[in-house]
Amino acid sequence: MERLRDKLCIITGAASGIGAGIAARFASEGARVVVTDIKLAGARAVAERLGTDYFELDVAREDRWTALATAYSEIDVLVNNAGVTGFENEAVAHDPEHASLADWRAVHAVNLDGTFLGCRYAIGAMRKKGGGSIVNISSRSGLVGIPAAAAYAASKAAIRNHTKSVALYCAEQGLNIRCNSIHPGAILTPMWEPMLGDGPDRKARMADIVADTPAGRFGTIDEVASVCVLLASDEAAYMTGAELTIDGGLTAGTAARPQRDA
Ligand SMILES: NC(=O)c1ccc[n+]([C@@H]2O[C@H](COP(=O)([O-])OP(=O)(O)OC[C@H]3O[C@@H](n4cnc5c(N)ncnc54)[C@H](O)[C@@H]3O)[C@@H](O)[C@H]2O)c1
Repeated sequence: MERLRDKLCIITGAASGIGAGIAARFASEGARVVVTDIKLAGARAVAERLGTDYFELDVAREDRWTALATAYSEIDVLVNNAGVTGFENEAVAHDPEHASLADWRAVHAVNLDGTFLGCRYAIGAMRKKGGGSIVNISSRSGLVGIPAAAAYAASKAAIRNHTKSVALYCAEQGLNIRCNSIHPGAILTPMWEPMLGDGPDRKARMADIVADTPAGRFGTIDEVASVCVLLASDEAAYMTGAELTIDGGLTAGTAARPQRDA
């Protein structure tokens, strides 16, 4: 059964990683997918592989959202997936004491402004269609503090909160538009590459990152994409303003237990 048959679904940041995985799963569920990304060549490559549309979209630029709204004035699903950590180009300080205002703002421009602009566009485009589903990709970093990546954590926390404002606004307006957030833990994608490197200690670094994760491993792109399919589909018709963690149990509590003497 095609769970997203004929739904027009826009996915941001879909040239790689989780976004590309969501695009592939949506296409396999019968959706009409539009692969968007700031990287046009990457978006085109994914779209050609899947036989779908593509569109150059820098989510931080209002004029590009306006152009998207002209090209796709009525939609069923938007996945606000595009995101940056701030570590893509160089290892700059992102802690609360040393982060520069410019670096702080650059992360928020993509993660938070991009999600705000996306939701605003989607509400208009879904209002015309008679309903729809917005899925915002936040992070488990939006649920806890991350001292070394404070801008990323704050922007993801704001996405969680804005998701609920959008959900309540749409309900108030009598619109059949749902808005939910997803909070992945460590998912192995290109986003991790600058932090993992390709040196001899790569394996140890990976083990270190998931050391506290009850499931004991990184999550996969498909494990996030499958939850996105659920939220995008009509199966989740009574879900709005909800947050779903996909983190191998990391935010469930603590795995520490008192040790007993043998
Ligand atoms: N990988 C993880 O462990 C993890 C965990 C939690 C949340 N997330 C979130 O999942 C989303 C996808 O991350 P990923 O791991 O696939 O990363 P990724 O780096 O593989 O993909 C991110 C994509 O976003 C695009 N992008 C960057 N800036 C953009 C902009 N201004 N406009 C449009 N596109 C832009 C990039 O070109 C890239 O294709 C992000 O929002 C990220 O914060 C990832």
